[in-house]
Amino acid sequence: MADLAQLRTEAEAAVGAAGSAAELEELRVRYLGRKSELTQALRSIGELRPDERGPVGKQANEVRRALEGLLERRTAELDASELDQRLTEDHVDVTLPGDPPVPVGHLHLVSQIRRRMEDIFVGLGFSVVEGPEIEYEYYNFTALNHPPEHPARLPQDTFYLAEQVLLRTHTSPMQVRAMELKEPPIYIVVPGRVYRPDTPDATHVPMFHQLEGLAIDEDLTLADLQGTLLAFARQMFGEHTDVRLRPGYFPFTEPSVEVDVSCFRCGGTGYEGSERCPTCKGEGWIEILGSGMVDPNVLDYVVGSGYDKERVQGFAWGMGIERIAMLVYQVPDLRMLFDNDLRLLEQFGAGP
Ligand code: DAH
Repeated sequence: MADLAQLRTEAEAAVGAAGSAAELEELRVRYLGRKSELTQALRSIGELRPDERGPVGKQANEVRRALEGLLERRTAELDASELDQRLTEDHVDVTLPGDPPVPVGHLHLVSQIRRRMEDIFVGLGFSVVEGPEIEYEYYNFTALNHPPEHPARLPQDTFYLAEQVLLRTHTSPMQVRAMELKEPPIYIVVPGRVYRPDTPDATHVPMFHQLEGLAIDEDLTLADLQGTLLAFARQMFGEHTDVRLRPGYFPFTEPSVEVDVSCFRCGGTGYEGSERCPTCKGEGWIEILGSGMVDPNVLDYVVGSGYDKERVQGFAWGMGIERIAMLVYQVPDLRMLFDNDLRLLEQFGAGP
């Protein structure tokens, strides 16, 4: 008969020293398995003298229970320390900088310029509103005093989506829409996308952005238009910038003017040293927008009250946002602004 006390001491020492689940399994087989001394001892109890059977059986069962309990505790201990180890080894410090640092994006140059323009006009008391890009022919042309036969209405110059529904060709349709929504006085700017079926080249793409302006109030004159645009030009291009108005023609303004700013590169001289200034091509002036006094016929199209052409009048303008961006940053080709080539985009750092 095995010495159960000694067996117990030996088994306990072995289990206590085991360092892995596999080792513990081996020890379980060795000490508690079918062929183990303990199992053999329990099996052969029947062969003992009747007075020995009770005490030996009791002791053997005690040893079995003790070993089972110990194996269970040791297994739990090993599991816990393994988890601890995994937690310390696998931990990620989320406060450390990324490696390699993830590049931070920034606004596209066109968005940066749009925001700068909006900020300047907001500073002058205008609010920013937006209008639909899918527009009725009515707001895009008719209510802007374009006669039915006006060539801009033709499909060569306008993307039609359905009869009388089109992609707006300019931001001007918001003029009448805004007046229908609000009584005068009105001081708004309207930035947004516009569409024209142009074949792309250095100065044309089929989708670009404009910023429209509209002011309607009592006693507005061309001088207010000029002062507003001068204030804008000085903030946008520099405090020494001048503006000049030249006669122009738009169906929805009367009189209509084309507005130039003095060249901010050569200071209006047309020269850089002895070379012709590349920005204004030697002109000293750069055309930046179309504008004029709102034609009273347009006010007649406003459904609703308040736009009595005897009492209120106004001025309006429309300018290309890409054109301003190209001028300010010397971008030579309009298409570059839409290629999304990072070598170009990354030159215009983090914008506002
Ligand atoms: N909508 C015109 C264009 O796209 C620009 C323009 C001219 C807008 C005169 C105006 C304006 O508001 O008064 O060419």
